[in-house]
Amino acid sequence: MSVLGRDGALPQGDAKHDAVEGMFDRLAPRYDRMNRIISLGMDTGWRRRTVDALAAVSGGTVLDLATGTGDLCRDLAARGYTPIGIDFSAGMLAAARVDAPLVRGDGAALPFAAASADGLTCGFALRNFVDLDAVFAECARVLRPGGRFAALDATVPTNPLMRAGNAVWFRGAVPLLGRVVAHDAEAYRYLPKSTAYLPALPELEDRLRAAGFRDVRHTTLTGGSVLLLTGTRA
Ligand SMILES: C[S@@+](CC[C@H](N)C(=O)[O-])C[C@H]1O[C@@H](n2cnc3c(N)ncnc32)[C@H](O)[C@@H]1O
Repeated sequence: MSVLGRDGALPQGDAKHDAVEGMFDRLAPRYDRMNRIISLGMDTGWRRRTVDALAAVSGGTVLDLATGTGDLCRDLAARGYTPIGIDFSAGMLAAARVDAPLVRGDGAALPFAAASADGLTCGFALRNFVDLDAVFAECARVLRPGGRFAALDATVPTNPLMRAGNAVWFRGAVPLLGRVVAHDAEAYRYLPKSTAYLPALPELEDRLRAAGFRDVRHTTLTGGSVLLLTGTRA
């Protein structure tokens, strides 16, 4: 199944859910290699910053939502947390090489009890969820009061120069690399287009607050091309 329509349109609703799941199932064996290339090796630093953002919580269980091949689980374990990875793509979970337990599940219906986690991380998936409010509500439900939330995602820089550079890389070079390295140019055309799914920042923060979070903040990394959104369960 193709992730973009014939006219290059982004899928919506159930069609998005199925197309995104299928895309990650297909990409899984080559996902890690492509990640290092397209982030120019910076993705490891972005994940480190995400784990730093949990600092108010020392140790404890951290759910890594949309864990993919489990990179954040590895970083969390190295910093003394007990991670559990969740993802809806069986292919991505099969490609993961981590010691942490991995659970197949959907972000909009997390298979965990209320207030059972001390922290929740999510790397590069907010754009991919069909119903962001349902996912934020689930994050709030599974976190204990005082639990920390930290989500990374791709975004478009506001600085015009950085924006132009970002477009050349993500809209020009990355689909070509996707064709050669991952044998899937379409998936890597979806990547830059999918930033359009994310609401503008004040709205994104308001929606996280409305789900039951306080101290909601954001920071941008790498010239504004990566967003780190954080909050504390009220
Ligand atoms: C870009 S990958 C990121 C993987 C990993 N977090 C990382 O930082 O490399 C996005 C992941 O989100 C997962 N995903 C997308 N929608 C999901 C949903 N509704 N429920 C669970 N996982 C989802 C995909 O299967 C994929 O593994």
